[in-house]
Amino acid sequence: MHTGKVYRLLSSVATTTKPLCHQRVVQQTGFRTSMASQSNGSKESHLVDDRPVPPMGMTSKQFQSAANSSVSEIAAYYDNLSERPVLPSISPGYLRELIPASAPQDAESWTDIQSDMETKIIPGVTHWQSPAFMAFFPASSTYPGILGDMWSAALTAPAFNWICSPACTELETIVLDWVAKMMNLPAAFTSQGAGGGVIQGSASEAIVVAVVAARERYIRRMMEKENITDEEEIEDRMCSLRSKLVALGSKQAHSSTQKASNIAGTRFRSIDTLPEDNFALKARELRAKLEECKAKGLEPYYLTVTLGTTNTCAVDDFEEIAAVKKDYPDLWIHVDAAYAGAALICPEYQHHTQHFTAFDSFDMNMHKWLCTNFDASCMYVQNRKDLTDALTITPSYLRNTFSDSGLVTDYRDWQIPLGRRFRALKIWFVLRTYGVKGLQAHIRHHIKMGDMFADLVRSRSDIFDILTPPVFALTVLSVKPKRRTKPQNGLANGNDPRPYQDTHMAILPKQSDEELKEANEITKAVYDLVDSKKEVFLTSSVVGGVTAIRVVSANPLADEKHLRRAFDILVEAAEEVLSKRT
Ligand SMILES: Cc1ncc(COP(=O)(O)O)c(C=O)c1O
Repeated sequence: MHTGKVYRLLSSVATTTKPLCHQRVVQQTGFRTSMASQSNGSKESHLVDDRPVPPMGMTSKQFQSAANSSVSEIAAYYDNLSERPVLPSISPGYLRELIPASAPQDAESWTDIQSDMETKIIPGVTHWQSPAFMAFFPASSTYPGILGDMWSAALTAPAFNWICSPACTELETIVLDWVAKMMNLPAAFTSQGAGGGVIQGSASEAIVVAVVAARERYIRRMMEKENITDEEEIEDRMCSLRSKLVALGSKQAHSSTQKASNIAGTRFRSIDTLPEDNFALKARELRAKLEECKAKGLEPYYLTVTLGTTNTCAVDDFEEIAAVKKDYPDLWIHVDAAYAGAALICPEYQHHTQHFTAFDSFDMNMHKWLCTNFDASCMYVQNRKDLTDALTITPSYLRNTFSDSGLVTDYRDWQIPLGRRFRALKIWFVLRTYGVKGLQAHIRHHIKMGDMFADLVRSRSDIFDILTPPVFALTVLSVKPKRRTKPQNGLANGNDPRPYQDTHMAILPKQSDEELKEANEITKAVYDLVDSKKEVFLTSSVVGGVTAIRVVSANPLADEKHLRRAFDILVEAAEEVLSKRT
């Protein structure tokens, strides 16, 4: 407490027992200090502190009161979330009508600020945590995650160097090693070896970092091979090499690879994937693209492979790609496991990591499916020097004895920005609150629900096709152009008696161009109808020319009844659209 400062009206508010909504928190606090009036023996000062608001925006008592009421509102928000429509019903620009054109000149009360949340902000929120949110991939929020972010905000320190907040750096290294072990990543990706993990803001950011590190490593290696020593010649050769560099990703890889390649100032080429391979990248197509690039005088330096593509959760053929890497040792391979990587914490999915020693970097977003609030993207490299070689720039003001000693990690050299938040806290809180077993149960629950949903879809094979094998709690479906006979076996209740292998086979629609066009129109119409009702939020996409609807059952609050309801909504919409066309 700042002794001697007079929060006259504020302190009377802070001690009141009235609920916040009945308090008139003071707007002109009359917060004035005359150090001269203190008799604490310190040097006399005549500085008048006439800031109208306490230095922290509120007194600590006011903060407690405001925070308690906010926490109550947040808890009530989650308790009643399933009753809110998942999508807002507002028009673009709605908020301009509700919020003044300029910031307030005078301080406002917390009561007024908080009440605007419900009246102005919440009406324009898409509720990603709603159990009716089955679009994109989830962005999970949990109470321990929220508490972690709260503590991170409380301890705000842009801890770019170890000395800027040693706990921030050290906890990050420890929890990322925990997560690497949970996912069965090869030991080389942990801090015990030459590699290690770092928390990035997003999977896209991780890809930018990987692409830049790959570019620099490729050029460095080429220069070493060519043994050029003259400085001007080195510069010329580097420039000419850069203009030839090409980054690669499959047609199903996330668009962030192309974006990262643009940011790095290199070319990008995409590689075909085929429906019969379930849209996984195979060595055949990869080799063909590498050879094509080489024949054109281009230098492929980077490739994204994916564990769980955005469209269909396809998993690229890591075994085959690892074999290709033997012939292209300078190609940096990054595993983008943004969403589905979370499933690696369950032993039954860990066979996917078998060939990861061939790859250079890996990234998984805990903020998608692992109960951690945005943002917590766990990026790993096998060789941390690859990152620091590309990203270290040390002006004199960033030098310190700890960094110079080489004994500490300065995460600023593993990322794009300088400053960074204490994001390891929320990961630590989540891992300890759930335990590994709790998180495994969370993943398995969603996968089980995804399988149940896919069975429901199969039970109506008279109107739906499933485009790729349902996996990682994602089902990708389309609507048949013509209604077929309704299945007569017991499948319509979702209890599919067929063995696992059969039920999880994709139903690849073999149809003429005309039929496909019609199917695409119908699927789009069904999606639009579902979307217009706003009871459930799904995503539509185009997969290998087929318009599809994606349903993801990996939201922390989603349960069987929500998925069954989503299915009923889809059936009703499909029947309505089909009946109008016959
Ligand atoms: C496979 C994949 N990679 C990358 C991303 C981009 O994720 P972020 O928003 O963390 O950048 C996504 C987004 O859904 C994704 O599905």
